Parts: sequence; structure tokens; C-alpha cells
Amino acid sequence: MQQITGREAAVAVLNDPRFVVPPVPPGASGIAWLRATVGRFSSGPAHDRRRALAVAVLDAVPPATLRTGGGHPVTVLARALGIAEPVMDLVRDVAQAYQPGTGDESRADAAVDRLVTILGGRHDEPTAALIGVLTQACDATATLIERARHRPVDEVLHADPPVRATRRQAQVATTVGRVTVQAGEVVLVGLAGGPAFGAGPRRCPGWDHALALVAGALARDSPSVHEGTPDTAPGTGRD
Ligand code: HEM
Repeated sequence: MQQITGREAAVAVLNDPRFVVPPVPPGASGIAWLRATVGRFSSGPAHDRRRALAVAVLDAVPPATLRTGGGHPVTVLARALGIAEPVMDLVRDVAQAYQPGTGDESRADAAVDRLVTILGGRHDEPTAALIGVLTQACDATATLIERARHRPVDEVLHADPPVRATRRQAQVATTVGRVTVQAGEVVLVGLAGGPAFGAGPRRCPGWDHALALVAGALARDSPSVHEGTPDTAPGTGRD
């Protein structure tokens, strides 16, 4: 698969309506239903409508409230969203296969259907948006927390972003920088060098939330002097 690298070329593709997210097939249940119902894998008016549902989920959670929670980012976010049942393991099972062709589909199928039940039992767009937000928040945020234990967050996002690349499909033949792309061709758009959260109309809407979750997790690792010395303060152990 051809790669588009460098901030300028990546941002150009991500803003170019002739490049779309590769479409996913319809699905009545499980991970196929989730992909077919969230904004992440939709285009056009369906993307606009479904992205707005995800943004509405996020708007209900002021990022600052996520700075105080310890634990896995999905646990902190789920609590802030008022989800009483523990969902982290289920969300992880979804996240490992969210991108088509990347994981164990049957594990993800079972987790999606269980999450739908926990969240009210409706296979509709608002339920998919909620599961989609939790899923998007899962691996990338956990990876950023891990990497930011060793170097500053900005540096990690620039040099070693948690989401390395995203896919786009060209609707028409075109050239991007020195790369010639055929109509229908799928390219990998690299996110190092500045666009770690994407760009354009599909840019990560959870950016502020992600940074707040990271700040909360790192603060828990290094308590301030008021809470005790690093050796004796609670929460300094690595888990
Ligand atoms: C370090 C953490 C994160 C990184 C690096 C990241 C990165 C990204 C990127 C690159 C995209 C765009 C993908 C594309 O254009 O193909 C995206 C989309 C998205 N992100 Fe994040 N994200 C992070 C955390 C979060 C969090 C915490 C949330 C929710 C609370 C979230 C919610 C979403 C959603 C809903 C989309 C889909 C947007 C759409 O398709 O319109 N992300 N993220």
C-alpha cells in the first residue's frame, strides 16, 4: 500500500473530499454493525450526522473532569459518561478489531452485542456513537499515556504518534506530492510530524479529552509534594 508521509501531504489528503474512508459492508449485529453505524467509517451526510452524535456524547463530559480520574482511560471516561457497569474489558475487545482486518472478529462481535445490551439494548446510531467514542478512546490514549511516561506528550505526538496512520481511498486518479494514486486505490496517510489527531472534517473530536485523560494518568504517577514524597505517596507504583 502506498504511503503519504509528511505533515503537508497528509493534511492535504485529509482535507481533500476526493479521498474517502474506505467503505465498510453493512452488518446487522456485532462489530460489522458497529462499523456500519458509526461516523468513523461513514462518508457524506451519514458521517456528518453520526459525527455530531459522537460530539454530543463528548460535549456532555467537560475535559477537566477527566483530569482527576485514575485508572484506564476507558474506565475514567465511562464513569464520566454515567455508565455504571464495568465496560473496560468489553471496550478493549471491540478496540482490538475496530479497524477492519486487524483483530479477532468473534471476540469483538460478542463484546459489541454485550455493550449494546448494557447501554439500553437498541441497535441504533446513538448507541453506536457511544460505543464508538469509548472504542476510539481506548488504545490510542493508553498508548500515549505509556509513551508519555518517558518523554513529553508533545514530543510523542510529533515523533511517535499513538495512531501511526489512517487509510483513505481515492475516488479519482490524482497525485499527492510525488505519489501518483489510481482511482479506487487505498493509501496509508502517516500521522507523524504534526497531525497526530488527524486533520480536516474527520479530525479527532476527542483531542481535548485525550489530553485530559493523559494528564490525569500522569498526575497519578507523580503526586505533588503536598501529597508526600515520591517514595511514600500512594499511587506511585507502576501497574
Ligand atoms: C491519544 C489519543 C488519541 C489519538 C492519537 C486520536 C487520534 C485520532 C485520529 C487520528 C482520528 C482521525 C482518523 C481519521 O481521520 O481517519 C480520530 C478520530 C476519532 N477520535 Fe480520536 N484519538 C485519540 C483519543 C480519542 C478520545 C479520548 C476520544 C473520545 C473521547 C476520541 C474520539 C474519536 C472519534 C469519535 C473519532 C472519529 C471522528 C470521525 O470519524 O468523524 N479519540 N482520533
